[in-house]
Amino acid sequence: MGRALTRALNVAGHTVTVTARNSEHAQKVADELKVATAGSNREAARDADMVVLAVPSNTVAAIVEDLDEVLGDAIVVDTTNPSGLDRAEILRGSASLAEAILLLAPGTRVVKAFNTVFAGRLNDPVIDGVPLDGFYAGDDPAAKQVVADLLAEMGFRPVDTGELLTARVLELMAFLNIDLNLRYDWPWQSGWKLLGPTG
Ligand SMILES: NC(=O)c1ccc[n+]([C@@H]2O[C@H](COP(=O)([O-])OP(=O)(O)OC[C@H]3O[C@@H](n4cnc5c(N)ncnc54)[C@H](OP(=O)(O)O)[C@@H]3O)[C@@H](O)[C@H]2O)c1
Repeated sequence: MGRALTRALNVAGHTVTVTARNSEHAQKVADELKVATAGSNREAARDADMVVLAVPSNTVAAIVEDLDEVLGDAIVVDTTNPSGLDRAEILRGSASLAEAILLLAPGTRVVKAFNTVFAGRLNDPVIDGVPLDGFYAGDDPAAKQVVADLLAEMGFRPVDTGELLTARVLELMAFLNIDLNLRYDWPWQSGWKLLGPTG
């Protein structure tokens, strides 16, 4: 997800710095995509306009706690989905990872986005001439507008689903698509699109 997002952001003309748990992994992506890497998440996030979390859900809390002081006014884009949990537990639903970020780092400009898009579609979001919907949620209108513009630049139709609370729905939508791909052995290329008059 990090590699695909870096590529898409790069193509859209943005400056990206990547990190990973293993610095060699970050360096590999940085070399491949001609972007910068940093020695730590804090170093990468310092003075950034936007911090994109494309990490396993069980690492989010520690990463956000580590970053808290350096986030400042940066927009935090949460692309994560719950994993490693019992399927029934995920389906029952609960507070979202995006809300957890806000609890851990109050005042952070969190926007849930990209979590309903498979990495394989991030750089190819138009199917038969129809742009996939890029759903996003958050409580900060200005931060959401930045993310909406980004989604549009990447070729998605941005769709504002409302306040950060609606990230719960977005995480379940992602889970449903994952579950269907596993169930029917689909090729991980499907994406969400609301058809019909919506505007
Ligand atoms: N894959 C998709 O199609 C997709 C779509 C939508 C949303 N998502 C969500 O995006 C997130 C990432 O998914 P993925 O498929 O890209 O997983 P992945 O291939 O396992 O990649 C996870 C990345 O997170 C890095 N990481 C782990 N702990 C870190 C830390 N403490 N600091 C910095 N980086 C750290 C890993 O670094 P190392 O390489 O060094 O281990 C790795 O590069 C998940 O929450 C997933 O639910 C994925």
